[in-house]
Amino acid sequence: MEIIETPAAMHRWAETARRRGETIAFVPTMGFLHEGHLTLMREGRKRASRLASSLFVNPTQFGPNEDFSRYPRNFENDCALMRTVPVDVLFAPAAETMYPPGSQTWVEATEITQGLCGGHRPGHFRGVTTVVAKLFNIVKPHVALFGEKDFQQLRAIQRMVADLNFDLEIVPVATVRERDGLAMSSRNAYLSPVERERALSLSRGLEAAGRCLAEGARHAAQLACAARFALERTPGVEIEYVAAVDAETLKPIERIERPVVVAIAARVGATRLIDNMVFTPRA
Ligand code: PAF
Repeated sequence: MEIIETPAAMHRWAETARRRGETIAFVPTMGFLHEGHLTLMREGRKRASRLASSLFVNPTQFGPNEDFSRYPRNFENDCALMRTVPVDVLFAPAAETMYPPGSQTWVEATEITQGLCGGHRPGHFRGVTTVVAKLFNIVKPHVALFGEKDFQQLRAIQRMVADLNFDLEIVPVATVRERDGLAMSSRNAYLSPVERERALSLSRGLEAAGRCLAEGARHAAQLACAARFALERTPGVEIEYVAAVDAETLKPIERIERPVVVAIAARVGATRLIDNMVFTPRA
């Protein structure tokens, strides 16, 4: 696996690959890889002749009181995992390379980032769409893969690609879960054994919402209420939000007539976790 640290060298790699008629699949990451990332990479491997990934803990998507400085990092292990896929090229820039002094241009998908996590993490999605736009310009992929675990991120990036005419395909990949249902996340590393058990209330809440729909409920509030109940009866879990919204626009809905995403953010101890599931009503 080639490791590239500067945008200029990455441009050269991408241009050479494209001139040779290769196609490039791309999986951007912030490292501390788990099976969820590796699933994206394996899927990328199938969809193009070359596979590129990036590892960059993007400072602009963290708020001032968030976990940027303690975000888990293990570069050597991440490289070893990428080699198993195998990834052909890893773009791993330094923060000063991505944001040199004087940087002042932002990319922002406005409406779709207003609710859910956007309401609780001001500036987060602006940081995500800005860095992803930069990475697309640097890596020049034909296809880029994103996990549905970060559902609002996925929708914001799809919006950005459509609105700014990026010439690439976004491929969403289903959330990878542990055997007991916990959605894989680099932040699960923060959880103590007791907290990890409590964190299962997120996936259980979502499953309860799904059962509620299957049993005939057709109001978004009923699904949100079913999910909230599972969280509220678990000690040590502090709800940030529970919402059932339109799965395309992420706008609030009353009656469920199209696919609905039930999304949760909650603190388990000091760790903020998110999870979601999309449910489609039977016609
Ligand atoms: O999902 C992530 O890991 C990050 O938000 C991303 C897409 C790599 C941008 O920094």
